[in-house]
Amino acid sequence: MKFAAVIASAAAFIAAASQASPLVWTNCAPPGAVVSDVSFKMDGEWACVGEKVCGTLTGIFPDPIIQGSKLVVSVKYLGRITNTFNADLCTVLGESGYNCPVPAGPKTIHACIHYNGEVVNIPGNTTMYAYNGDSKYLFCQASTVMNKNCTLSPNP
Ligand SMILES: *[C@@H]1O[C@H](CO)[C@@H](O)[C@H](O)[C@H]1NC(C)=O
Ligand SMILES: *[C@@H]1O[C@H](CO)[C@@H](O)[C@H](O)[C@H]1NC(C)=O
Repeated sequence: MKFAAVIASAAAFIAAASQASPLVWTNCAPPGAVVSDVSFKMDGEWACVGEKVCGTLTGIFPDPIIQGSKLVVSVKYLGRITNTFNADLCTVLGESGYNCPVPAGPKTIHACIHYNGEVVNIPGNTTMYAYNGDSKYLFCQASTVMNKNCTLSPNP
């Protein structure tokens, strides 16, 4: 009986560990960020190094997104930066058909970045934040994201 219970709990643990959990992104913006209610969902279960990584950002933008805005993504593994992306936000948005100035209002934006750096294969602390062209802090989202070589491990 005891033995069976141990087996059952070990099996439950393995099932929980191997289950693909949806990536949860949380707000990491300082107080006073322009878009306080933002949420983000990355496409796929891991980020493909050397490929485009896309996702959907939802939020109410009280100001338009203007020229000079910046988007920064960085991945840290045990304090070491393994992947970075730093670009003009209007360029990123323009590639997905949103042209600056992107008018204020409720937004659901699907856009992509060109994702480079190391293939770590272990979830790293990932931060994505943006500044508007007037230097105001727009938003920040954080999660733990796995970086993989998707030639070898295609996203499910
Ligand atoms: C992510 O950040 C947390 C909190 O700072 C830290 O405990 C953890 O070790 C970090 N994970 C990685 C993979 O760097
Ligand atoms: C992924 O793996 C393939 C095949 O081994 C290799 O050619 C390619 O350079 C790798 N890509 C990255 C980003 O490591």
